[in-house]
Amino acid sequence: MATERWIQLEEEVPPFTPEIERSTAAVYDRLRNVIPEIEWPVHAPYIAAIRKLKLERKAVVLAHNYQTPEIYHGVADLTGDSLALARAAERTDAEVIVLCGVHFMAETAKLLNPDKVVLIPDLEAGCSLASAITADDVRELRRRHSGIPVVSYVNTSAAVKAESDICCTSSNAVEVVESLGCDRVIFLPDEFLGRYVAGQTDVQVILWRGHCEVHERFSAEDVRSYRRNYDDITVLAHPECPPEVLAEADFVGSTAGMIRHLAARDPRRALMVTECSMSDNVAVEFPHVQFVRPCNLCPHMKRITLPKILRSLRLMEHEVDIEPEVAERARQAVQRMIKVRTVKGNSNDQAG
Ligand code: 13P
Ligand code: SF4
Repeated sequence: MATERWIQLEEEVPPFTPEIERSTAAVYDRLRNVIPEIEWPVHAPYIAAIRKLKLERKAVVLAHNYQTPEIYHGVADLTGDSLALARAAERTDAEVIVLCGVHFMAETAKLLNPDKVVLIPDLEAGCSLASAITADDVRELRRRHSGIPVVSYVNTSAAVKAESDICCTSSNAVEVVESLGCDRVIFLPDEFLGRYVAGQTDVQVILWRGHCEVHERFSAEDVRSYRRNYDDITVLAHPECPPEVLAEADFVGSTAGMIRHLAARDPRRALMVTECSMSDNVAVEFPHVQFVRPCNLCPHMKRITLPKILRSLRLMEHEVDIEPEVAERARQAVQRMIKVRTVKGNSNDQAG
């Protein structure tokens, strides 16, 4: 039995051949500042195998900005924040979508592509915000605040989206809230994003007490101490951070908004107050910016690995499936969001 298992494992781990070394050399050249050379023989065979299998399966790999650099730069066809991934999922003609991110992102891709196969390489890749609220909670909120529309952050389950009027992401939350033309909205589940939105609009926001387990750990003192050490540092923070952290930042925005801000301002030194892999990925694109890295990892995003992506494509697992009646209502909430026109290229990002 033990021998059988070993043979199976041997088949799954592709060897690092000279041909693979050659075919992945250009990828490694870009990554050499963020991945030690000694690790490349481990990643490269998977990258080569995934690239080949993607073609055979007519698959596209969508990767969130928090994926590790070997995924983000090695196998992803499209990368971005939650909004960009939803949009990419809506437009792709691939037959199979492999979502390298967390479960709610794969569900969103499936909602927008009911006839395509959507795979997530690890079903346990969840999100503390998505698990902070249930469909029953939303129904109860509606009973308590009758007639007030519900805006759900895209970091929610399809069942919660199905109970919502419209979704939003951290990129378009203010614009989505204002698009409803109401005095008050229920905003869920992220309390801190909701508070941030409330500070940017005259619409009154009824909040839920959900938090991101990664961003809630940053403190204002963390940011102040980086500023004491580096007086020229540009601080970019994700709106899932507590309000006192956002108050210390030079820029607040989605993960894609942060990248746009870096491209526009070209700072000498930057601190991204968000998930850790993001700085590695962005450092590859901005080699002259010095990134100071507080390392808060999202344990859910980190469940996705190259071996799991390869396995997912080989076995066509784990296929995302949403009950049709729930999917129909959840899809409407996502599609309403996608139709909201935004002024600055889908962004409520704020520079300080
Ligand atoms: P973005 O949409 O800004 O990429 O954020 C998604 C997320 O999960 C942040 O924690
Ligand atoms: Fe969820 Fe936070 Fe992880 Fe984003 S970083 S997926 S919000 S737990």
